[in-house]
Amino acid sequence: MEIALLLSKEHSTLPRAEVDAVMDCEGVKYHLKMEQEGLLILDIPHKNPEDLERVIERLSYTHEVFQILLQVDENDLLTEAEKYPWDEIISSSYAVRVKKMDKKSKLNTSKLEWDLGGIIKSRVSDQVRVNLENPSTFLRVVLKDGQAIAGNQIGKISKKHFFNLKPHKRPFFYPGSMSPKLARCMVNLTRIKKGQALLDPFCGTGGILIEAGMVGARVIGTDIDYKMVNGTKKNLEHCGISNYQVFQEDARKLELPHKVDAIVTDPPYGISASTRGEKSHDLYHQAMKSLQGLIKEDGLLCLATPHYLDLDEILAGTKFKIIEQHHIRMHKSLTRVISLLSLV
Ligand SMILES: C[S@@+](CC[C@H](N)C(=O)[O-])C[C@H]1O[C@@H](n2cnc3c(N)ncnc32)[C@H](O)[C@@H]1O
Repeated sequence: MEIALLLSKEHSTLPRAEVDAVMDCEGVKYHLKMEQEGLLILDIPHKNPEDLERVIERLSYTHEVFQILLQVDENDLLTEAEKYPWDEIISSSYAVRVKKMDKKSKLNTSKLEWDLGGIIKSRVSDQVRVNLENPSTFLRVVLKDGQAIAGNQIGKISKKHFFNLKPHKRPFFYPGSMSPKLARCMVNLTRIKKGQALLDPFCGTGGILIEAGMVGARVIGTDIDYKMVNGTKKNLEHCGISNYQVFQEDARKLELPHKVDAIVTDPPYGISASTRGEKSHDLYHQAMKSLQGLIKEDGLLCLATPHYLDLDEILAGTKFKIIEQHHIRMHKSLTRVISLLSLV
């Protein structure tokens, strides 16, 4: 089957990288059919609805996913819709929503929704109703590049989750906390699987650990500051995450009884989060030296750093190498660099 993913336009590379990573770790094989700004079309040869459900549940930079039913020139959409066996996919209620993804389309979206809705009505049984609030089948049409792509929605990423878990809404808040969306994406980039162990050695308020816990990882967090350790525990409990170990430790001296499957971390930049007087470069370098012994050989580490730190220099003399990088412009004087590292 072919699926379309409507990606967030917040960032140019992270949404696609996140999809690749989550498909990979959930074992869903696919071929890329089309990639355009905000839209990804994938062909999935062996569909397993449960695997796909797990993929959709994990994503943060995707808005919705639908199974493609029609992909035609936008001017032919209504003619093709007349021929489509809608009764095979709609059993009780439906809604049609059209979204223009660029300025090329001359079609009026409300009129198209009305016309398509009418065609579908004439092709399904009398019991089937239009239900705009909570339809059993939600039909999405996107207009892009003169094409109309129509399909039934198989998943929608909950905005509520990322909104309700914003750092200032948790019981323990401290400036410099990472947004839940970015934290989830960084967790996903490491391809961590349910039941595996993930470490954040600079855990702060626990934002990364919360997202890792939500995808089913066993989470381990450490911070040099006892206040943060207590705060992280409170935040994890608040989010219903009980499979955790959080304790006070200096990331440069950390030791663990077992190696972890992944590390995701956002060390202090020396601006809002204190580096305790240590030069950022030295702190990062020493931490990376200690972390290289704590991760499994095939494990991945996802790290956020400010643009003004030279990661090549930080990693020199460690066993880590950079395999992927994404740049997020925060404001005029700060760009965050998200790097995915593996052991050499
Ligand atoms: C940028 S904050 C982490 C923010 C976190 N991602 C969140 O969402 O809340 C960095 C944290 O590193 C901690 N820290 C500073 N030096 C440390 C060290 N040597 N070892 C461990 N933690 C340290 C600080 O106490 C701070 O909580």
